Amino acid sequence: MRLGPHELSSNLFLSPLAGYTNLPMRLTVRELGGLGWATTDLVNARSLLENSPGALRLVATCAEDRPFAIQLFGSVPEEMRDAAVKCEALGVQAVDINMGCPVKKVVSIGGGSAMMTALDRTAALVRGMVAAVKIPVTAKMRLGWDDANLTAPDLARVLEDAGVAAVFVHGRTRAQGFSGRVNLAGIRAVVAAVKSIPVIGNGDITTPEAAKHMLDETGCAGVSIGRGAFYDPWIFRRTENYLRTGILLPEPDFAERVRVLRRHFDRYVEFYGEANGARQFRRVAPWYAKRFGPARPFKRSMVAINSRADFEAAIAEYLVWRAQFCDDQGVLLEKFQPEKMEASFMREDDAGGAAERNAIPVPKGPVEVW
Ligand SMILES: Cc1cc2nc3c(=O)[nH]c(=O)nc-3n(C[C@H](O)[C@H](O)[C@H](O)COP(=O)(O)O)c2cc1C
Repeated sequence: MRLGPHELSSNLFLSPLAGYTNLPMRLTVRELGGLGWATTDLVNARSLLENSPGALRLVATCAEDRPFAIQLFGSVPEEMRDAAVKCEALGVQAVDINMGCPVKKVVSIGGGSAMMTALDRTAALVRGMVAAVKIPVTAKMRLGWDDANLTAPDLARVLEDAGVAAVFVHGRTRAQGFSGRVNLAGIRAVVAAVKSIPVIGNGDITTPEAAKHMLDETGCAGVSIGRGAFYDPWIFRRTENYLRTGILLPEPDFAERVRVLRRHFDRYVEFYGEANGARQFRRVAPWYAKRFGPARPFKRSMVAINSRADFEAAIAEYLVWRAQFCDDQGVLLEKFQPEKMEASFMREDDAGGAAERNAIPVPKGPVEVW
């Protein structure tokens, strides 16, 4: 698929996840293959203009981290425009505008999902950004504020007229938070509303089959995956292969999961330094463990690591403990295998509370709700 002037290697996108989609994670996922495009965590436009160390770290990138977009949030048109110009000077392929974030701090200044409710003001802000840069400007939104205000189709149309090159839609409202199902009809309505720009669907994709289902059911040009990439950084490779050949590659085995966990950790240490990197990695490691089978001691020790030695000791101890759940070949016994992943929108009904059981947890982080 194309995004503005860019021809992408796949129609699969990594969603911005504040506190996670940093350079180490992007490189880790890219190396596994299948990913067509990645975006930073959201970055405060004003902080970027002020060169705040935190903002500069969020936009840190390198030659292998391509194609790459910076996501900005803010509501002051001049600041958003100047920040877009700065992003262009940094050499990024696009600037994305956050219009979906329901966090109070962002909404209270008229940014994030508040932008979905003020179409004229938002269009003017976007026009200012589009006119100031040559790179594409994209926007990420939810379906609307609540069920009574499903503004995404109108907003997408207005944004297309204002010059936006693509829109990303999380198929839930702000009021929904992360509960309930992703609304495929809502995404389809956005696809129907725009004239020619690509719409990228998003929400709850945890398997290649779910990605295909969202593409088929909504007509969206691509899909964006966030939390699914925590469980399964291989999801892009597996999905790209499935969409191209119809063949579903197996989930990676335990040894491969540990190999990539280490690679991810190494990059944290390289990027943040050993002590800080190890502490920051405390919130990443438990996601890998979700597909390990029994892993309580692993999670307990990983959330206390301070160094590479702690990290390696936690793995070594876990390998010994985990052996009790494995056969002679070291393969996890059937009854201890984690449950198959299933996206909210793949279920016909919700008998037995499967939605709650299978809900993807929302990680704690610098932001509590998205
Ligand atoms: C911890 C966390 C942080 C997030 N940070 C951002 C962000 O910085 N910008 C943004 O537009 N969306 C953010 N989101 C929303 C995701 O990009 C995505 O739209 C949402 O998680 C649904 O997709 P998923 O089910 O594939 O995770 C965040 C979500 C979570 C759980």
